[in-house]
Amino acid sequence: MPNPWTLVGATLPDGTRADLHLADGLLVDSAPAGATRVDADGLVALPGLVDLHTHLREPGQEAAETIATGTAAAARGGFTAVYAMANTTPTTDSAERVQQMRALAEGASTEVVVIGSVTRGLAGQELSSIAEMGAAGVTVFSDDGFSVPSAGLVRAAMEQMLPFDGVLAEHCQDQTLAGPSACCHEGTVSSDLALDGWPSIAESVVIARDVQIAAYLGARLHVCHVSTAEGVDVLRWAKARGVRVTAEVMPHHLLLTVDELRSGDTTYKVNPPLRPAEDVEAVRAALVDGTIDIVATDHAPHRAEDKAKPFPQAKPGMIAIEQALSTVVETLVKPGRLGWAEVAQKMSHAPARIGGLAHQGRPLAVGEPANLVLVDPSRRSVVDREASLSKGRNNPYHGRDLPDPVVATWWRGRQTWRA
Ligand code: DOR
Repeated sequence: MPNPWTLVGATLPDGTRADLHLADGLLVDSAPAGATRVDADGLVALPGLVDLHTHLREPGQEAAETIATGTAAAARGGFTAVYAMANTTPTTDSAERVQQMRALAEGASTEVVVIGSVTRGLAGQELSSIAEMGAAGVTVFSDDGFSVPSAGLVRAAMEQMLPFDGVLAEHCQDQTLAGPSACCHEGTVSSDLALDGWPSIAESVVIARDVQIAAYLGARLHVCHVSTAEGVDVLRWAKARGVRVTAEVMPHHLLLTVDELRSGDTTYKVNPPLRPAEDVEAVRAALVDGTIDIVATDHAPHRAEDKAKPFPQAKPGMIAIEQALSTVVETLVKPGRLGWAEVAQKMSHAPARIGGLAHQGRPLAVGEPANLVLVDPSRRSVVDREASLSKGRNNPYHGRDLPDPVVATWWRGRQTWRA
């Protein structure tokens, strides 16, 4: 059993103050005997954050990340649960692979929820064992890294998910609208740098296709990493019609623009790509007004040698999980566009509900699991990629002065991070 704790005078997401008592993995109503006291004066307590979109790289790519290092980084970022994307080696595409992944995750620093792939080996040809994985308790399915290539496959996959109300989490980049070497946003910067680009519509046409299929079937769709104003428009259209669609935005799409690419640094290569400032504002506004439901991370560690290549050949992806809350505080909390209750909603309650995780994303109330993060709203630091707990050094915030709000994290009453 974890040691008991009392957090004295914490500010709750709704602005009220309370002492929080942690014992036997739960929040309890009075100070447990022998509790370690923490002075939480001026600190905000949030429910443990839940990341619906993490790349842990294990099994198969342990030189880039392991479940141990990825979840240690997650705990430092304030997370108590992460959803592990299926693009491991081998792909998580059967119940057997799901069980293997769950076994590997024992002893991790957060809960690890396994995502199943939509197609076998992410090859976009035949469906994975969706019904079998659903029977094994998988709720989220994704070929993240690639769009499911055809409407027919999306329909067939959603039909298999309907009996257990699973959700298809779609990576929206239509490969037929971009060349094989597309590696950034198509626009002024790609022209100036003579790079092949992904047009914004490569995102929005996939969202448009999938929301119509979801509407037709009454199935659930979750749109991964929305990055464009066009994508937001389609989502707004679908939500107004009651389509069962939810969506996420990434920290980097809230803070960074395509102009970073002028540095030539391949850290900034990511899929979907960094966009112009108008898109950044569109996704911020969509998160604030609820068109985009949640912030997820797309934490994507890579080995240094996989990034040390010309831009078109470098692997896409950036690490993100330690600075996820930092970027949300910088872009939306500090400017007064989101309050702490809304941060709790968009980074804890809502992702847990979308992912079907009953015991995470709960209110900080007596009897609930002791999953929480203590936040210092005014703490800042200069990001140092060498200090990351992730194996990845592809940190797009290296050298930036950013909020550094996460003071401590508890998962099931056990402290998993302390600054
Ligand atoms: O940039 C990305 N990297 N986007 C994805 O969707 C996949 C990810 C990865 O696995 O590296």
